[in-house]
Amino acid sequence: MDSERHGRLDALLSDPYPHYARARHTEGLTQVAELDAWLVARDADVREVLRRPEDFSSANALLPDVLPSPAAFAVLGGGFGGRPVVVTADGEAHLRLRAPIVRGLSPARVAAVLPYAAERAAALVDGFAGDGRVELMSAYARKLPGDVIGRIVGLDPVDVPAVVHGGHRAEELLFRPLEESEQVAAAEDVVAMQHLLDRYVRERHDKPREDLCTELVASLTEPGELTLDHRHELVAHLQNLLIAGHLTTTALIGTTVLHLLRHRDQWELLCAEPERIPAAVEEAARYDTALQGFRRVTTRPVTLAGTELPAGASVLLAFGGANRDPDRHPRPDVFDITRPPGRHLAFGLGAHGCPGSQLAREQLRLTLRELTARLPGLRLADEEPVTMRPTLIHRSPYRLHLTW
Ligand code: HEM
Repeated sequence: MDSERHGRLDALLSDPYPHYARARHTEGLTQVAELDAWLVARDADVREVLRRPEDFSSANALLPDVLPSPAAFAVLGGGFGGRPVVVTADGEAHLRLRAPIVRGLSPARVAAVLPYAAERAAALVDGFAGDGRVELMSAYARKLPGDVIGRIVGLDPVDVPAVVHGGHRAEELLFRPLEESEQVAAAEDVVAMQHLLDRYVRERHDKPREDLCTELVASLTEPGELTLDHRHELVAHLQNLLIAGHLTTTALIGTTVLHLLRHRDQWELLCAEPERIPAAVEEAARYDTALQGFRRVTTRPVTLAGTELPAGASVLLAFGGANRDPDRHPRPDVFDITRPPGRHLAFGLGAHGCPGSQLAREQLRLTLRELTARLPGLRLADEEPVTMRPTLIHRSPYRLHLTW
């Protein structure tokens, strides 16, 4: 993608909401050049696409915004992966990849990890510097979700920082325009993470344990049979699960705290009435959706919202646009934690609906319990303007400087 087009895409993604509003008001679907896709931004239309996976394939769900340079590609060639993963698979192949993840993130498994998650959340807040200032993204939001999904997958805690770092670098490499040398450095970090994950694949295949990594390995291999192809497939699978598990949750922790503190009355209401925390999490997930959108590609000629699309047409399902649709959510641009529950699409729906939504919600709830109880005087640091990362898959503040 050329730099001019990337500049326009960044502008769109920094504040996508006016674009969604225009697309919702325009009859049919709108083709958006920056996205190279038809924008689907009405709640009813997004739901319809999600209900028709046979017409709208997920094969292009993770299409990168930036093609890595040949030098970065050469580095990536020394890693693992490059196989379809659960978000990009359809039909039977999708079910096969999804089943162990759904089992691994069942309500009972989530309940079992909560004491550890609560202990980590408390320890991270204990670690905030004593001078009444913290940068929340680096001190908390980038840490808790990685620790928690790492625990479920069965990673040794010493390996979690490299895996979290590798996930962020993969996102930067594929979705941000980087200088050549930065691309190569990012690719090296991604490859290092993949080799680490491959070590887990081999170890769990040889010596199974009670963890999700072992279950993923067992779901795709026979005992005693681990080919190079299996290793590529399993590293891709694990990398995708880990990134889906931590990047999005990191993002939602950031935006939730940001919007609560920007709306001081609602923060104070939450401190006084913590029983409202679950509703506050739902409102934050709706209002500034972490995963703004994923792509689909039509498998045959279809009509959507009155627009005829040929086979092979790329559509962007804007979960973030659907969640601001006034036909579904009255006064959609108002952040209001007291609004009656209305079902939002922050976690998708249907065949690809988020299997980690309960885990994400629990981490958000315990974060807000911890912060409202221990730091009710929390404020945005005035002198540090907040800027949002221009990305579809990880909408969050770059940094969130807070004081108390
Ligand atoms: C705030 C946090 C999260 C948000 C906003 C979020 C959002 C979503 C959305 C919108 C989808 C649907 C994608 C589509 O339709 O193509 C999805 C899928 C998925 N999510 Fe999440 N998610 C979050 C947290 C998590 C966590 C904690 C995990 C795992 C531990 C996870 C694992 C997955 C996986 C594996 C998929 C793919 C499912 C499939 O394709 O069948 N997510 N997520």
